Amino acid sequence: MDRLTMLRQRPCRQLSVIATAGILLLIVYHVYHQPVLGQLSVHRLPLPKTASLSNRKHFDDLRLDDAQCQATFPGLTKDIDDMVAFGSFSVKYETRPDSPMLVRLEKGQLYIVHHETDKDIITAPYRDARLATLHQIHRAILTSPVPLPDTVLAVNVLDGPRNDTLSYSRAAFGAATPGSPLVTRAFLMPHFSFWGWPALPFVGSFQKAVEAVSTQHMPFSKKDARPVWRGTKRYNSAQHPKMREDLLAVAGGQRWADVQELAWGEGDGQTKNDQKVVATNALRIQDFCKYKYVVHTEGITYSGRLQFLQLCASVLLTPPMAWLQHTTHLVKPVYASDLLGVRTTEKETTSPAGKKWPRYSPSEANAVFVAPDWSDLYDAVTWLEAHLDVAEGIAQRQRSLFWEQQGYLSPAAEVCYWRALIQGWAKVAKVIDERWSKAPRGVPWEEFAMGYPKEVRDK
Ligand SMILES: *[C@@H]1O[C@H](CO)[C@@H](O)[C@H](O)[C@H]1NC(C)=O
Repeated sequence: MDRLTMLRQRPCRQLSVIATAGILLLIVYHVYHQPVLGQLSVHRLPLPKTASLSNRKHFDDLRLDDAQCQATFPGLTKDIDDMVAFGSFSVKYETRPDSPMLVRLEKGQLYIVHHETDKDIITAPYRDARLATLHQIHRAILTSPVPLPDTVLAVNVLDGPRNDTLSYSRAAFGAATPGSPLVTRAFLMPHFSFWGWPALPFVGSFQKAVEAVSTQHMPFSKKDARPVWRGTKRYNSAQHPKMREDLLAVAGGQRWADVQELAWGEGDGQTKNDQKVVATNALRIQDFCKYKYVVHTEGITYSGRLQFLQLCASVLLTPPMAWLQHTTHLVKPVYASDLLGVRTTEKETTSPAGKKWPRYSPSEANAVFVAPDWSDLYDAVTWLEAHLDVAEGIAQRQRSLFWEQQGYLSPAAEVCYWRALIQGWAKVAKVIDERWSKAPRGVPWEEFAMGYPKEVRDK
């Protein structure tokens, strides 16, 4: 009798034996394999290949791995790749009062080996920036799905960039001081306001601004049609030394614009006797977003207001930006001269700014570049008002890219960037300076964060 016949002859008993065995096997499999499957599904969130609306749920997720970061925020780390491509360099062991802070990263722990103590340079705003930046680095390390490499970071919290450091910004073209050499290898780090900026009462932190802007639902057509700006006249860059003065001359007090110099009274805009000084005509970030056209000016170097203006679904109007922050390479400008059909001179296209910034079509652009002397500002706004669909498209693409749909300024993008930055830096930063052999290990970050050594707290 073959097996098949046997099965047919005694079907009930055979089947129940097979079924029982099968169920037992399933239970055993379930018990032993479930935890493994569970872990895998936590670590491998399915992600689309390209950024899309469905990526939004990841924008608050601080634990994305490298592949997920790249899939969610393509092109985010371009500037890091550019810096790594310059090749290796030596991290200098320098401990002058004004030398950049040195932060040792060892087995996931941070140690502050040196921090700036020059009282004239390291004023309250810089101390805030330094603390915020260290918190940002720590957050990126704590939430990393993989261990980050051991290295020593040279962290420069001053406004101006320094070679072979992490800096908030770097010149896009032209040196900060005419004739002086360009700082070429400054790895761009995310601005400290992504952690907090308490010195500016109307800002507080990026997250606070995000919430204030996000709860505001103002259709583009309902926004104020005047270009808006508030600022201090005297902060100008070497690339555009008369930028703010010219802006006030062209648009200040004009009916078609809401451009005003900040009225600080006696303060300097920061902190006076520990009191936050507020200019009487200052605007909150959500108030800027109620205008169709937001005017951006850089300062002596970069302006920390850029990422705040980029939260608005408004048209950013700026001269070609001379300073790069960590996401500035994502700005796609259309030139006002192209909108107005003004013939571009060869001088403009071959100038340092012209070579740095490509020209995009109005349907791709997320910002508008105007002349550095603002001579075409009025015409640009008039043109955009006559082509509101174009204006609204530019405005929406800005908000969509940086926050709403592509989230390049989101918390997830920030930690993704920090981790790529630490990995990129560690690849090329060599700790071979002989002086390192005698260097102290450094103050553990946890102690430093609480104000130790004591001079960290001293005002
Ligand atoms: C920065 O480093 C580059 C490359 O080594 C060099 O050409 C440049 O002069 C340096 N800039 C400054 C300000 O020292």
